[in-house]
This record gives sequence, structure tokens and C-alpha cells, in this order.
Amino acid sequence: MPIRIVRFRVCSGVIFLFLLIVGLGGASSAQAPAPAPPAILLGTAWYPEQWPESRWEADLALMQQAGIHMVRVGEFAWSRMEPVEGHYDLNWLERAIAAAGRHNIYTVLGTPTASPPAWLTQKYPETLRVNQDGRRAEHGNRQHFNWANPKYREMARKIAEQMAKRFGHNPYVLGWQIDNEYAEVSFDPETRAQFQQWLKARYGSLENLNTRWTTAYWSESYTAWDQIPIQVGYGNPGLLLSWMRFVSDTWRSYQKNQLDVIRANSDARQFITTNTMGSFDGYDHYTVEQDLDLAAWDDYVGEGHLDPIQNGAAHDLTRGFKQKNFWVIETQPGSVNWAAINNSLDKGEVRAMAWHDVGHGADVVSYWQWRSALNGQEQYHGTLVGSDGTPVPLYAEIAQLGKEFAKASPALAGTTVQSQVAILHSYDSRWAIQWQKHNDKYNPVEEILSYYGPLRVIAQSVDILPPTAALGQYKLVVAPGLNVLSEAAAKNLAAYVEGGGHLVLGQRSGMKDDDNSLQPERQPGPLVSLLGGRVEQYYALEKPIPIEGKWGTGECPLWAELLSAKDSGTEILIRYGKSNGWLDGQPAAITRKAGKGRITYIGAWLDPKTMAQAAKWMTETSGVKPALGVVPDGVEVSARYGTHNLVYVVINFSKEPQTVHLPAAMEDILGGGSKQSVDLPVYGVAVLSASR
Ligand code: GLA
Repeated sequence: MPIRIVRFRVCSGVIFLFLLIVGLGGASSAQAPAPAPPAILLGTAWYPEQWPESRWEADLALMQQAGIHMVRVGEFAWSRMEPVEGHYDLNWLERAIAAAGRHNIYTVLGTPTASPPAWLTQKYPETLRVNQDGRRAEHGNRQHFNWANPKYREMARKIAEQMAKRFGHNPYVLGWQIDNEYAEVSFDPETRAQFQQWLKARYGSLENLNTRWTTAYWSESYTAWDQIPIQVGYGNPGLLLSWMRFVSDTWRSYQKNQLDVIRANSDARQFITTNTMGSFDGYDHYTVEQDLDLAAWDDYVGEGHLDPIQNGAAHDLTRGFKQKNFWVIETQPGSVNWAAINNSLDKGEVRAMAWHDVGHGADVVSYWQWRSALNGQEQYHGTLVGSDGTPVPLYAEIAQLGKEFAKASPALAGTTVQSQVAILHSYDSRWAIQWQKHNDKYNPVEEILSYYGPLRVIAQSVDILPPTAALGQYKLVVAPGLNVLSEAAAKNLAAYVEGGGHLVLGQRSGMKDDDNSLQPERQPGPLVSLLGGRVEQYYALEKPIPIEGKWGTGECPLWAELLSAKDSGTEILIRYGKSNGWLDGQPAAITRKAGKGRITYIGAWLDPKTMAQAAKWMTETSGVKPALGVVPDGVEVSARYGTHNLVYVVINFSKEPQTVHLPAAMEDILGGGSKQSVDLPVYGVAVLSASR
């Protein structure tokens, strides 16, 4: 039965009384407008279906007390929403949303399609995915569905439609999460046939496909579409890349199947998102995210402690999907249950991590999960209340965050991250390198981080974007390991340099074309003439070799490219020292002024000390200035810009207390007053507001 919520404000405080007025009838749930949620929300994953309804009130009261304003609900509750095929029961969900609303808590609804019910997979076994070894998945875990299967899509669409019709206009529903952590694919014969159709649409003719994949090699030439296999990890590079693109397009259409029906039945103010997993590369996120309103990710440290560089890069990658603020829709309350050692984050570290999230552009930080189900696979995971339903020690830290988010929300409202530096990232390139690492220690994500880390420290803000993104606003664009360089990306980069930007290409860039074929020129392929130099040969290294030049003396581990400077205007920045004879004294990094800008190629994997010097040179040459100014080592600075104000988030991730001197007096939002410097204990946080 739909319910109507009416809110009365008592005094000027935060106490709200809601009356339930029952009886509007029909499928719609017209309700009084909800108060606007705060700009920065604290949230948690709540599973009301796992608990007696009589318990909800106590949980929601504890959430409200901690300053939690958002619950994500429903993403695994299909068997509760549709206990029997075609018989939908969403009344309990409506009551849960209303109950949360009475505590000023907004709901994000997850569609439950990551965990189809047993009746569904029993009746329609073709909806279960098939592993690479040909075995069909069984019921009892999650992600056992086949993302390409038409019957599964029909069932998924129906449940999403039922939910959207019921809650698409509910004022307490902020938005939607489709499914949960897209990951598992299927290798069944029907999916293979779809892949072959996809290839036909992309390549048009077998002749074209055979040429572009060079299938003359090892008699791979195809004379019929249905001869083409699925290959993963090892195979023809064109086939491997095509399969990953098919996987990505199929996730996109899987998502669109639900997205269209939600959009058709919901208010425009309700966003649609899905939860991604940081650097996970099981599909091309740029393909899938283009249809969504908001990027959101699940931010887990796992074993050990927060690495602000690695985690910051994952934030910046996620922010780059929609090029705007994003959500941390899941994060760990202390510990997880799936790492080798599920240690807890230190006291104060969860709070520091939440502010680090906000600094990088998160508008929501939501803890997974509120309380462990008494049974089920994740009994040991961190929570905010224990199995007895009372707060665990971390709850107090979350409640402190709740107060701080409320305090800082007015200043942070409408602010976003702005960067002078962009790092280019492409899934095609990461896959291409992973399939043929050439040195098994070569990790393309670590390559990106080796550039990102020192650049982030200097600039205090970095965007991570695909190579076809608009780049005009950046003073410096760095492309580490841009191995696959499409024609469109090459044109974009050349135009950026011609227009006055500084492009830095990292090792292994510009080697492959859009089919993962070798470019018919040496690296960086179509950018050779702009660079006035090229890669003569690449070498996988058994051990680090010496390098020397403008960035001091250091070492090159893993990988070395022998460069040549063909143009008289091309400057040699560093050279290799004595090693295998081939590389001795040869150029390792070169740069050239081109058009109104500059292009640089770094062929050596640089050790951290040399990379720090290289980053200093890159930023100085490009006129990049730090957002706040120089701070002690281990202190992370982030900045969010509004129309008239600017908010700095400053966090001490070092092992010692630190003092940060500010370039001007600023309002200390958390501590109060105007400050010229701030003292930060270990994991200490300052949120500072300045006018622009
Ligand atoms: C993922 C899932 C959650 C939960 C957590 C545990 O992010 O989305 O359902 O399993 O991991 O860390």
C-alpha cells in the first residue's frame, strides 16, 4: 500500500516528525517533497530484508544518530522482491524507504540482478553463465547470471521496471544503482555466436578482418564467421582486443536494458549509476559509463593501510568517467573479509580516508555494511554495529564524520575538482601490455602510478582521462604506456601540442593501432614527426641499469627504450649509462618544441627519485603551480573549487605530527576560526575555506 509522508519541523533543530497518511491507492506513490539532502552525504549499505521489520527502527535511529543520510538498499534482494515468478512484493521495500525517510535518510535503490533467485535459474538454466572450461555456474553464490542471455535480460528488465514504477517518483529515493560490480562473463555457444555477429558488424567482411588481424599468421585466416573462437589472455592480439570490446559493449547493453526502463518510469532528478571497482579492467569503463548520470565506486583497502597515491588515482580515474564529482558508494568500515590479512584500519584512518575521498571529488562516502547478516558468506566483514545490533568501536568515528560532513557541507556545496595536469589512461593499452608484458614484472597500472604519484604531490590535483578527451584546459598532459594509439587519439594529442600544450609520452607509447596491430612505423607511430625522434629498439631488463642527465643520476628498472633524436630541435634529456652495450650512452628521454607547445618522450622506466625530478621538470616547463603550496612530506592536499569559494582538504598521512603553513589566512571549518597555519596529528584533517 503506498504511503504518503508529511514532515513537520519541530523548533529550528534537526528533529523531524513524520505522519503517515495511507490510502492514495494505485501504483504511484505521490509523496510530499523531501527536504534537500546535504551536499556531502554519509551513507551505509542496509539490508532490511535480512531482519525482522521490528528491528528497522532501532537501526535507523542509530544511523541518524551517526549523521548517516543515505542507505543503499535492495541490490541482492530479488528473491524477496519476486518470491515467485511474476508475483512482485515491493511493499516491504516501500515501508523500509518510508521508515528511513522518517529519520531523514534517503535511499538509493539497487536493482537486484547480481543475484537471481533459485526459482529463476532452475526454470531457465540458460540464464546461468558458463565458465571458460564449459561448466555452467550453479546457484548459491552471486554473479552467476549470463550477462548476454536474452531470457535473463527479459527477467532483469521486468524486476527493474516493477521497482521503477513503484519508486521512480518517491521523494526519498535519490537514485538507482544498476546491478552490482559488473565482472563475470559467459563463454556459452550463444554468447560466442553474438560475438561473431558483433565482429561482422564491426569488420563488415572476413577479408577485412583477416587483413586487420594478420590472420595469415599461423593459418588463422577465417572463411566463415562461425569459425572465430573466443580467446582470453593468449591469442591473436586483434581477437583478444575485440573480445574485450564485445564484453564492454555487452555490459553496456546489459545495463541499458535496465536503465531505459528506469528512466522511462522515474523523475529526472533520480540519478542512475553502477558501482565500479577502481582499477578493475574486466571491461572498458568509458564504454559503459557513457549512459550513466553519475560515477560511483567501491573503495576497499583490503590488507594493509590506505595508500593515498594509489587510492587517490582510483578516485581520479572514477571522477574522469563522467568528468564530475562522484560517489564512494561502498567503503570499508575498518576491515574487509576477503584479503590475506583482514587487518583493521587504524584509529583515525577511516576518518582520514573519508576526507581524502571528499578531497578527490566524492560527494558521498558510504560504508559497506551497516550490520552483518547472521548467516551468509560475509559474516566477518567490518560493520558499524555488531551482531547484537549495538555500535562497534568505529561507530564513534563515523558519528564524528557525520558531524563534520554537516559542518562542511555548506562550503563544499557546488564545489568540484579542477586540475592543470591530466594523465591519459586507456583500457586498450592496459590490456595490450598485459597480454604481452615482455617483462613479467611490467604492470601497466604501476607504470601509470609511477607518473601519477610525483605529479599529484607537486600539482595537488590530477585528472585521469581517456586519450580522446578534450585536453585544451590542461597545461600538462602525460600519457604513460599509451600502447594502443588510435587515429582519433593521435589527432587529439597532436592538436593539443600544436595548440600550446605539453604532452609527455611514457614508455611503450604509440606502438599499436586500433586493432592492436603493430604500427607500420616505430614508436610513437603517428607522433614520430612531431617528436622529431623515435624508439629505435626496446629492451626488457633483467636488472636496473644506470641513467644520467637533466634529472640527475638514477636507475632504470624493468624496461628501456633506445631513443634517437632525428630533428635538430630535439633535445636529449637523459641517457643510459653502461649496460648491455646497445644502450650505453644512448638517449632515454627526449623533448622538442612543436607548434605552440612541446612533446616529450620518456623511454626508460624511471626509479622513484629520478621520476620525482622528471615530474618537477615537467611541471616547471609547463607552468603548473601547486593548488595550495609546498607542504611537508606525507601531507596530502586536495582542492575543490566553487564559483566564489575554494575548499582545501589537508590530511596528514605521514607517521609524525605536521604543521602546514598556509599562503594566506583561511577559515578552519572543522576547528573553527581563521588560521595562518594548521597543526595536524597523524591522520589529522583540516578543511579550510578561502574565497576566490
Ligand atoms: C563488494 C560488494 C559488496 C560486498 C563488499 C565486501 O564491494 O559490492 O556486496 O561484498 O564487496 O567487501
